[in-house]
Amino acid sequence: MAEPSRVRDLLGRQSAGGEVRVRGWLRSARHAKAVSFLDVSDGSCVGGVQVVGAPGLSNYEAEVRKLRTGCAVIAEGELVESPARGQRYEIQASRIEVVGWVGDDYPLQKKRHSFEFLREIAHLRPRTRSIGAVLRVRNAAAMAIHEFFQERGFMYLHTPIITTSDAEGAGEMFRVSTLDPASPPRTPAGEVDFTSDFFGKPAHLTVSGQLESEIGALALGDVYTFGPTFRAENSNTPRHLAEFWMVEPEMAFCDLRGNADLAESFLRGLIASVLERCPEELEFFDGLADGNLIDALRHIAESPFERLDYSEAVEILERSGQSFEFPVAWGNDLQSEHERYLSERHVGRPLIVTDYPKDIKAFYMYVNDDGRTVRAMDVLVPRVGEIIGGSQREDRAEVLERRITDCGLSPADYAWYLDLRRHGSVPHAGFGLGFERAVQLITGLANIRDVAPFPRVPGYADF
Ligand code: 4AD
Ligand code: MG
Repeated sequence: MAEPSRVRDLLGRQSAGGEVRVRGWLRSARHAKAVSFLDVSDGSCVGGVQVVGAPGLSNYEAEVRKLRTGCAVIAEGELVESPARGQRYEIQASRIEVVGWVGDDYPLQKKRHSFEFLREIAHLRPRTRSIGAVLRVRNAAAMAIHEFFQERGFMYLHTPIITTSDAEGAGEMFRVSTLDPASPPRTPAGEVDFTSDFFGKPAHLTVSGQLESEIGALALGDVYTFGPTFRAENSNTPRHLAEFWMVEPEMAFCDLRGNADLAESFLRGLIASVLERCPEELEFFDGLADGNLIDALRHIAESPFERLDYSEAVEILERSGQSFEFPVAWGNDLQSEHERYLSERHVGRPLIVTDYPKDIKAFYMYVNDDGRTVRAMDVLVPRVGEIIGGSQREDRAEVLERRITDCGLSPADYAWYLDLRRHGSVPHAGFGLGFERAVQLITGLANIRDVAPFPRVPGYADF
């Protein structure tokens, strides 16, 4: 009996011939007079392989003719040149084993389903061409990210998921607690007594691995973390998830410019790598995007990013003559519409905006000599807007402590973080790439819920 093959390998063969075996699920089944055409897909590539069944099969009438979309089969037979259009090979089956039937209510059919509908069946949608392709792109992108950093000597550091520090100081964290929510222990003042909670103090899911990455960088030089992060912000947008993956490099002896240079080569390299690793998937997404995707990605991979400081960006927006929904003024944060205008309309490619007002950025960013801006940077890309956020970190203990206090946070909560500035402090910098936003950019999909296998958003954490 032939060893099982992946459909991708079969379709990539130099020539037909030989006995083969495939295992997968039917994308479609068409039963004609005395012949059945089964489109078997196994998740290894966008397309399936056509298996042709004929009455010679022992179970042809009893089983094969009853096969429908969604059934699981193992098929064996000869790999032959296909007379049909659009496929090189097909399998003339000598045996078809039905491994799993489908119920009458199987929701996937041969036609194209809307992404909205597919979100409701996240347990079955990986079997579709589109979500299967998304998952393969995620896989390839994740591997490309590790290779990028490993090749440059960065060490992969595993930062914690449960934390007692708010890395962004924005209070958008999910609590982790084993206290009984119905009757938590109380302090004499009537507040919840977290000293008797599991960790002896309030604990949360991390919003970013940055603070611990800084510990790593200040000992190992260049490190990166790549893991899940969580934000309890009530944002119902096509670009926000409550759980998303972030890639966060952190470099010792590095300033904002070095950081921006790394961000640019990282993002361009990532896109080039996925273009190379997933040509078939990107052709597929290019089709969904009316042919506008691959050229746009090549353009990003090949052209240098524009760089602007925040004040210049605000002037450009003010002079743009656009009527934005959110007002543009020095001191206001850039909104997605502004980010997209700058990237799509003003420069026509990605750009890096630096030196934002300190009042709209996190406590840990290095304060510039002007006293009102910080060494922050955001990388903005067409269609998605902000894809990377980063900064040079404040490495002066006194300045950092003042910033923590000014931001309404308590230096006591950041004692170890301040300590790092008192013992062998060096200039250092890093950034975070939102992995799902990168996958949105690469696939061209409009909604972030379609590039996360199991999206978590306000009001929804099924599957
Ligand atoms: O700009 P952010 O908040 O930066 C940080 O968390 C820093 N601590 C990173 C660092 O310097 N090490 O988030 C970084 C990126 C954003 O640019 C965006 O791409 C993504 O993470 N991101 C989200 N992606 C999906 N859903 C959300 N709710 C996101 N919030 C941020
Ligand atoms: Mg940001």
